[in-house]
Amino acid sequence: MEVENKFVTIKGYVDGPPSESDFEVAFAVRVLKADQGSNDVIVKNICVSVDPYQINRMKNYSSSQTTSSFATRLVPGEGIDAYGIGRVVASDNSEFAEGDIVVGLLGWEEYSVVRGGNWLRRINSTEFPFSYHVGILGLSGLTAYSGFYNICKPKKGEKVFVSAATGSVGHVVGQLAKLFGCYVVGCAGSKQKVDVLKDKLGFDDAFNYKDEPDLKSALKRYFPDGIDIYFDNVGGEMLEAAVANMNTFGRVAVCGVISEYIDDGRRVAPDMLDVVYKRITIQGFLASDHMNVMADFISTISDHLRNAKIHALEDISQGLESAPAAFLGLFRGHNVGKKLVRISAD
Ligand SMILES: NC(=O)c1ccc[n+]([C@@H]2O[C@H](COP(=O)([O-])OP(=O)(O)OC[C@H]3O[C@@H](n4cnc5c(N)ncnc54)[C@H](OP(=O)(O)O)[C@@H]3O)[C@@H](O)[C@H]2O)c1
Repeated sequence: MEVENKFVTIKGYVDGPPSESDFEVAFAVRVLKADQGSNDVIVKNICVSVDPYQINRMKNYSSSQTTSSFATRLVPGEGIDAYGIGRVVASDNSEFAEGDIVVGLLGWEEYSVVRGGNWLRRINSTEFPFSYHVGILGLSGLTAYSGFYNICKPKKGEKVFVSAATGSVGHVVGQLAKLFGCYVVGCAGSKQKVDVLKDKLGFDDAFNYKDEPDLKSALKRYFPDGIDIYFDNVGGEMLEAAVANMNTFGRVAVCGVISEYIDDGRRVAPDMLDVVYKRITIQGFLASDHMNVMADFISTISDHLRNAKIHALEDISQGLESAPAAFLGLFRGHNVGKKLVRISAD
């Protein structure tokens, strides 16, 4: 069967803050048949992820700048790949059959061809909503889990600070830290988000960083005895302020630096003398380096969900056409929880 596949693309490279006019919805004819011997799997997408790092793939880097191989550059006019969940509509792969529900690298499009079935995983259970497999039980959750346990190396009773704390990664980190027996403070960009952190997710405290003219003294107020662990989702001035408030042998897990993704290139760095004298470990990481903990991660988070010990915050936009606005909203703080776009019904 032939379909007119609808997909979202960038019209050109994006310099500076993105706007909706940088995107368009395009169409391409797709034959829903996997070629014999290809191992390809064709998926009808149900729900796809919208992630801040995508902006770094849309920029027009000069030849002296490169993105990491993890974030290969997007091509204007072509599809935008993204993690997602969907239903197999055709398969030449013995591991996947028509009708299977799968998660993997799909795209902001109605149908995706997964070459060789690479990276696909079948979901055999309907215990949780499908969207959870893209968020809390998907790469966002894995980022939180691996970053907190493997990079932060927590000890019970330690004081943990999480930025972008209602975000897809942050809200899971904070809850894991609470379950582990840490004291947890989160920051976010609105009163509504602060209320969610304190009232729904059980953070010990939370604040709106936009109300704080001096981040260093704000953190001093929330952590009079210092910070042991900082889970950094934003970078910039918040990282500088957190390092100034860290205890000796503190750990900073640098998950992402969203405050620097669409700025004018001005950079604020932490005081490195502080880092030396306080023997602070600052470590960047990628969830993709921690696939070996996938089984433990899924089993642990599933148990927490089952026992209502952890809440999944989701923010789902409806329809493929909503993907550009959903994406822009990440940089404007519009999302509360994991941002997803629903493309078709379960
Ligand atoms: N290392 C990895 O493997 C990995 C994997 C996934 C994500 N990440 C990174 O982790 C971070 C969080 O990603 P996510 O998917 O969980 O996104 P998210 O937190 O769900 O969404 C982005 C949030 O960031 C906050 N934000 C936006 N611009 C900001 C700014 N200039 N300063 C401070 N906060 C700002 C906004 O919340 P507020 O209302 O609180 O401002 C916004 O809602 C990102 O930096 C992302 O690139 C890394």
